[in-house]
Amino acid sequence: MTNVLKIFVFVICVLAFYAYVGQMVPQKITYPPTSTDFVGDMTPLELAAAGEEIMSGKGTCLTCHTIGSPGDGLRFPDLGGIGGRAGAQIAGMSAVDYLAESLYDPNAFVVEGFLPGMPAVSNPPINLSDNEILAVIAHLQSLGSQPTVTLDTELQWQSEEGSAPSAPTVAPGEPLDGPGVFTNYACSTCHAIDDATRLVGPSLYDAGSRLSKAEIYEAVMDPDATIAEGYPGAAMAAMLNASGFYQNVSTEELKSLVDYLASKTGQ
Ligand code: HEC
Ligand code: HEC
Repeated sequence: MTNVLKIFVFVICVLAFYAYVGQMVPQKITYPPTSTDFVGDMTPLELAAAGEEIMSGKGTCLTCHTIGSPGDGLRFPDLGGIGGRAGAQIAGMSAVDYLAESLYDPNAFVVEGFLPGMPAVSNPPINLSDNEILAVIAHLQSLGSQPTVTLDTELQWQSEEGSAPSAPTVAPGEPLDGPGVFTNYACSTCHAIDDATRLVGPSLYDAGSRLSKAEIYEAVMDPDATIAEGYPGAAMAAMLNASGFYQNVSTEELKSLVDYLASKTGQ
């Protein structure tokens, strides 16, 4: 009898645990792809207006950056006046090229006083097309200067075949393993996993020796419940909401992710 009872209690606990994990996966907003129609003869100002919309929507730029109102944390460069100073950031590089490099290849030049952690916005999960990036550049120029780019502006970083979005890394329906979840949802833009490097977020190469599996679950599912000391709150939650992580990750994938992180002991 006691054995039956024990099994019963065990089963209830397992079910309750999965129900708990399941309901922790909140239904949050994701940004739908923009419906901006790019027509060939848009003026730089029209393009800048489209860029402004992309920056607050699909581009997720404002989850990290402020415009003209730097907070006290200053983890991310304030973009107020960026159009005016972009041409002076790297000797010999034009403002347009500087802004383009910041978006396509952010780690090529890390702004002094900041840590790397800006995602390449032409790659998943943000996945802006070349035209969308031109629009964003026009808007950045308009912050402190006059926009000059049009849809005809050619940039060395543009993809050969125009603005074909990158292919998804796995077929829909096929569950990802732990490292797959980590890469697919761009955890790696903010967290080192193979060494102790500090990016926007703490390195997770020793997560398993610092955190229990439950703490890892909580850190992922409710990032602002406890905020690792010395790091900014809100950025991780904003980024994971925007990339559709909470809507798309399955319980099975979540478990693989937590097992993977728990296996990282800094060796
Ligand atoms: C996950 C946070 C994050 C997101 C999202 C993000 N950035 Fe950044 N960005 C950074 C960080 C960190 C830096 C500073 C490090 C560097 O220079 O790479 C930076 C640097 C920049 C710079 C250089 C600023 C300067 O003062 O020279 C520009 C321009 C920029 N970002 C624009 C954008 C735009 C536009 C978007 C959206 C399409 C965007 N960022 C999205 C984190 C982010
Ligand atoms: C926009 C940058 C960003 C992205 C993307 C991001 N994180 Fe984070 N993460 C942070 C920051 C900043 C912290 C520290 C602040 C906090 O605890 O909320 C953090 C904290 C954590 C912690 C707790 C670390 C500790 O030492 O206490 C874990 C675990 C974690 N993240 C896992 C993930 C996983 C898994 C993903 C991808 C599904 C992810 N993060 C995506 C920025 C990010």
